[in-house]
Amino acid sequence: MSNQTTVVAPISWTGGSDGFLTLLDQTKLPTEIAYLNCDQVDHVFDAIQRLSVRGAPAIGIAAAYGVVLALRDQGDDDNPLVSIEVAKQAASSACDHLAESRPTAVNLFWALDQMRKVIGATDDQTPPVQLRKRLLTEAKKIHEADQAQCAAIGRYGAELLGQLGAGAGIITHCNTGALATGGDGTALSVLFALHEAGLAPKVFADETRPLLQGARLTAWELQQRGLESTLICDSMAALVLNEGKAQAVIVGADRIASNGDTANKIGTYGLAVAARYHQAPFYVAAPTTTFDMTIATGEEIPIEQRKADEVTKGFGSSTAPEEIEVYNPAFDVTPAELITAIITERGVIKPVNSENLAKLVAE
Ligand code: MRU
Repeated sequence: MSNQTTVVAPISWTGGSDGFLTLLDQTKLPTEIAYLNCDQVDHVFDAIQRLSVRGAPAIGIAAAYGVVLALRDQGDDDNPLVSIEVAKQAASSACDHLAESRPTAVNLFWALDQMRKVIGATDDQTPPVQLRKRLLTEAKKIHEADQAQCAAIGRYGAELLGQLGAGAGIITHCNTGALATGGDGTALSVLFALHEAGLAPKVFADETRPLLQGARLTAWELQQRGLESTLICDSMAALVLNEGKAQAVIVGADRIASNGDTANKIGTYGLAVAARYHQAPFYVAAPTTTFDMTIATGEEIPIEQRKADEVTKGFGSSTAPEEIEVYNPAFDVTPAELITAIITERGVIKPVNSENLAKLVAE
């Protein structure tokens, strides 16, 4: 039995197809549990941009529900207020708009493509409210599928990392748990599964500068679930490996190119370099919705650049001189050769190369 303490639902839909989306506002964690009710596409767009909802799969799920909101005020079965052409146009525009919210996590574009397929498959005789219902069904399907994928990643990952033995020290970066997905998470799902199997992993959570997803969100989730965990600054990870306190690293992903190069939260690449130097396995856990088989290598992954003040005054007071030049890429790319294995809902890719990725995706 799972010992999950579900205190919060990060993403939920209330009502029928004219209902609304509720998001846990992750910018307020861990000090405040606050929710945002979204009944317009723009509410969801803003929530994604300002990281109230974040994490690759969660962004895709929220955006899918966001498309339904585009048709919210278009009447009901008895009284449709627009034609099907207008409804289809509104839903397509919502997809285009939401696709502009963040550039790196491919799950966003994947989810919007699923929604576009529903719009494309709707003929001009369909009542507009029917389209709205179909879009909600699709958004719920994406949400539920992600939940199942997280569980499968947890199972495969626990089998693999279980080989480290009980009480292994494992470093993780950013937040890849229930807050970042529709289920238990990706990398964190593996750690939760190890914990539930009685293998008592000792987790080191990188704080994850500049926005502290590790300190604010991962440390919080690990505590909620009762795992033995230690918070470290990102700059301490190499020492923790050197001292033998950790024997492995596991992270999530925002986009995986067809050769296995992996974009994830800034700092992941440095962590992978440190893991290789210390001969510690470096694992990536991600659903196949994070794979972008249209690109050959990580060089083609668009990297989001964020505002300077996230670095100079992240959480209030200024920590740098005014007007200092700042470089603030939100993600970096870890080359496939530094990744020991990729854990997906369909199984484990090892070694990580184009051939093995293509084989798994084709299955
Ligand atoms: O900027 P964020 O917080 O959306 O970045 C999130 C990450 O980099 C996660 O590691 C990644 O999305 C995997 S989440 C399962």
